[in-house]
Amino acid sequence: MALDRKPAPNDLNAFWMPFTANRQFKKTPRMFVAAKDMHYTTADGRQVLDGTAGLWCCNAGHCRPKITEAIQKQAAELDYAPAFQMGHPVAFELANRLIEIAPKGIEHAFFTNSGSESVDTALKIALAYHRVRGEASRTRLIGRERGYHGVGFGGISVGGIVNNRRFFGTALGGVDHLPHTHMKENFFSKGQPEHGANLADDLERLVALHGAETIAAVIVEPMAGSTGVLLPPKGYLEKLRAITKKHGILLIFDEVITGFGRLGSAFAAQHFNVLPDMMTTAKGLTNGVIPMGAVLTTAEIHDAFMSGPDHAIELFHGYTYSGNPVASAAGIGTLDTYKDEGLFERAAELAPYWESALHSLKGTRNVIDIRNMGLIGAVELEPIAGEPTKRAFNAFLKAYDKGILIRTTGDIIAMSPPLIISKGQIDQLVGTLKDVLDTLE
Ligand SMILES: Cc1ncc(COP(=O)(O)O)c(C=O)c1O
Repeated sequence: MALDRKPAPNDLNAFWMPFTANRQFKKTPRMFVAAKDMHYTTADGRQVLDGTAGLWCCNAGHCRPKITEAIQKQAAELDYAPAFQMGHPVAFELANRLIEIAPKGIEHAFFTNSGSESVDTALKIALAYHRVRGEASRTRLIGRERGYHGVGFGGISVGGIVNNRRFFGTALGGVDHLPHTHMKENFFSKGQPEHGANLADDLERLVALHGAETIAAVIVEPMAGSTGVLLPPKGYLEKLRAITKKHGILLIFDEVITGFGRLGSAFAAQHFNVLPDMMTTAKGLTNGVIPMGAVLTTAEIHDAFMSGPDHAIELFHGYTYSGNPVASAAGIGTLDTYKDEGLFERAAELAPYWESALHSLKGTRNVIDIRNMGLIGAVELEPIAGEPTKRAFNAFLKAYDKGILIRTTGDIIAMSPPLIISKGQIDQLVGTLKDVLDTLE
C-alpha cells in the first residue's frame, strides 16, 4: 500500500505535545516538513530562518551531510549492541573525542539519552561518589532559583521554575536553592554583567544552615538558558568553585545548552575558565539529530568507584541506549562538522556583531532588558498588565508568520541561532524582530 505522505495529518488529537499550548496549536498548527542549513520549510512551503537552533541543539545547522551520512552508514552496519557488559567501538571513539575537546581535568564520559537523564545521572553519581568514599551523610543537593535542569524528578527538584515543580508533589527531599543571578542593576549589560558575584556567598549561608557534611553537590547552568538567558556576574562562578571546594562539595555545570560552541568555546567551563567536577551535556552533542547526552567527569570522581572485586559492577546505573551505536555515530559526525568548519571559533568571531545587532533593539517598544553572550541573547519585554507571557507569545506567533523562529519563556524572547549563521542573517533576524515588536500591542 502506498504511504500517505500528506505533510499535515488531518487529526492532531492523538499526539499530546510537550511544553505546548496544545489547544492553541491544534487550532492553528505550525508544522515544519523539511530543514536545510539555517532554514526550516513549513507545511505551506515558506522558509523560516532558524533563530533558535531548533531547541538550542542544532548548533551546526540542519541536515548537515557528515552527520546524515554517519547515521546512515552506522544504521546499516551495527544498529544496536547491548549497552551493559558489551561494547562497540563507536561509543569508545566518541567518548575519546569528547574528552579531547573537554577542559583539561575532565577524563570520562557516561552516556545518556537526553539532558534530563544527564542531570539525573550526574546527581546520582554525586551521591554515590560520597558514599563510596565513606561520606554517606552527604545527601543534600543544591540547585538555583530559575535554574532549568530538565524534567526528571532530580532535575525538577534542583531546578527553580515554579510551574515545573508545583504540579508534581514534593519531588526529591533534602534539596535547597541558591538565589538566581538576574538583577535590575545589570539590565542592558553587554556580555558578562558587573554586579552580583556576591550572590555565590549564599552558599556559605546554606552550609551554615545545613552543615557541609550533609551537602553532596551544587548544580548550576554556567549561563541559565531556558529561563531566559540569565548570565553569571563577573567573578560569580569562580566564587562558587572556591566555596564548593573549601567544603568538599561537588560542583556540577549543566552545559546542556552552553556545551558545543554556544559561547565560542567547546564548553562554558573553558569560556569562564572554571573547572567543575562534572558537566552534563546533550543537545549539541549530536546536533539534536539523534537523542543523546553525556555526563563528563574528572578522574577523581570516576576512580573513586574503581575498587572492589574486578568482576563487580561499579555503578548501578545506565540506560538501554547508553552509547547507542547510531547516536554515537551522529555524535562523531557532529564533532567532525564542528571541527572541520571551525564552528566554535566562528561563534566567538561573530559574537561582537551579534552583540551590537541585538543591543540595537534598545529603545524598541516594550523592551525592558537585552542581554547577550557568545551566540545567545535575550530581549525581555514589559508584560501586558494582568496577562503575563502573552506579549512574548504574540511576538513569537507574529515572528513565525514573518519568517523567523524565536523562542519565548515568560515575557522573554530568547535567540540562539546555529553557529553557521551569517551576518546578513543576523541582520534579518534582528530586523524582523524589530518589525514585530514595533507593531505589537
Ligand atoms: C540546562 C538544561 N539542562 C537540561 C535540559 C533538559 O534536556 P532534555 O530536554 O534533553 O531532557 C535542558 C533543556 O533545555 C537544559 O537547557
